[in-house]
Amino acid sequence: EAAEKGGYEHFMLKEIYEQPKAVRDTISPRIKDGKVVIEELNMSDEEIKAISRIQIVACGSAYHVGISAKYVLEEVAKIPVDVDFASEFRYRNPILDNNALVIIISQSGETADSLAALREAQARGLKVLGIVNVVGSSIAREADNVMYTWAGPEISVATTKAYSTQLSAVYLISILFGQIRGTVTKEAYKNMVKEIQKLPEKIQKILEEKERIQWFANKFASSHDIFFIGRGLDYATCLEGSLKLKEISYIHSEAYAAGELKHGTISLIEKDILVVGVATQEQLYGKLVSNIVEVKSRGAYVMGLTTYGNYAMEDTADFTVYVPKTMSCFMTSLAVIPLQLLAYYVSVAKGLDVDKPRNLAKSVTVE
Ligand code: G6P
Repeated sequence: EAAEKGGYEHFMLKEIYEQPKAVRDTISPRIKDGKVVIEELNMSDEEIKAISRIQIVACGSAYHVGISAKYVLEEVAKIPVDVDFASEFRYRNPILDNNALVIIISQSGETADSLAALREAQARGLKVLGIVNVVGSSIAREADNVMYTWAGPEISVATTKAYSTQLSAVYLISILFGQIRGTVTKEAYKNMVKEIQKLPEKIQKILEEKERIQWFANKFASSHDIFFIGRGLDYATCLEGSLKLKEISYIHSEAYAAGELKHGTISLIEKDILVVGVATQEQLYGKLVSNIVEVKSRGAYVMGLTTYGNYAMEDTADFTVYVPKTMSCFMTSLAVIPLQLLAYYVSVAKGLDVDKPRNLAKSVTVE
């Protein structure tokens, strides 16, 4: 097993470090001469133009990719998107017209609820596109179209590289659909294609600064409650950051759309509670800073997560982590990295079984 870990202490850390390569492997083969080409996507331009709405169905972290996808697809391709937990979708009798596209996202391709949701969609005569990591898995075999994420085998129960490659797949689909449906200008298209290819090196840069997060994780390893707040895509990032932390550190954590704080959660904020404020969305930056001020005035200790250049964050947050800038719609891919590292180092500091957390399975093949 030590050999399989390739010198890393845990599979999770190894997989965190494999992300630049995994993201590159998922993106590069689908960009040819500056254009997004998804050969395995067996859909004509007419079919893509006719899509009335997209229904994304998934579980766990893949569901969080779905939440990010809603923001990106709606922004770039202007297609309305719904996102459901597979366990809800399969029993809620959803209203879907014939031109709806169902996308199932799954690392293993074997999650029982996701597979049942796929069958439910097909029984209604709908086309299903699977975004799947494991080649030849049940969802890959049964879906009408499959787009593979090339993350390679993922051993750690808490997903990192599969999640990152799922995000990349979603960006590629969004750019392609946007181009075919004429919702992105030529210039925006060019920029997106250029920016998406820079994500691996930017992820690499964040990984090189892991010591600061490690230090911070040690300081907060004995916390009982941690809150993650963000707006827009930063909220989607918070959902994943919070899940990662609770999965492997057993610390209670919640992710909140920052604007909802005042409708409940703020009553839980008291002295020295850690709040992670994610603020990478330029147009929402000021709003998030106001939310940080609110929780700080109630005694919270705040870790701010923003992009290089927003140095004024240090006037408000107690501890600030910076990530490189990219287009707002791709920010989740960068902002999630310090949150994965935070979860990992908290778990290590507590001496827990990082790769095999209690009560959790890598692939949930029973309902
Ligand atoms: C389990 C795993 C999660 C994963 C979820 C969905 O709960 O521990 O990491 O996100 O299943 O799995 P899938 O294989 O469908 O992506």
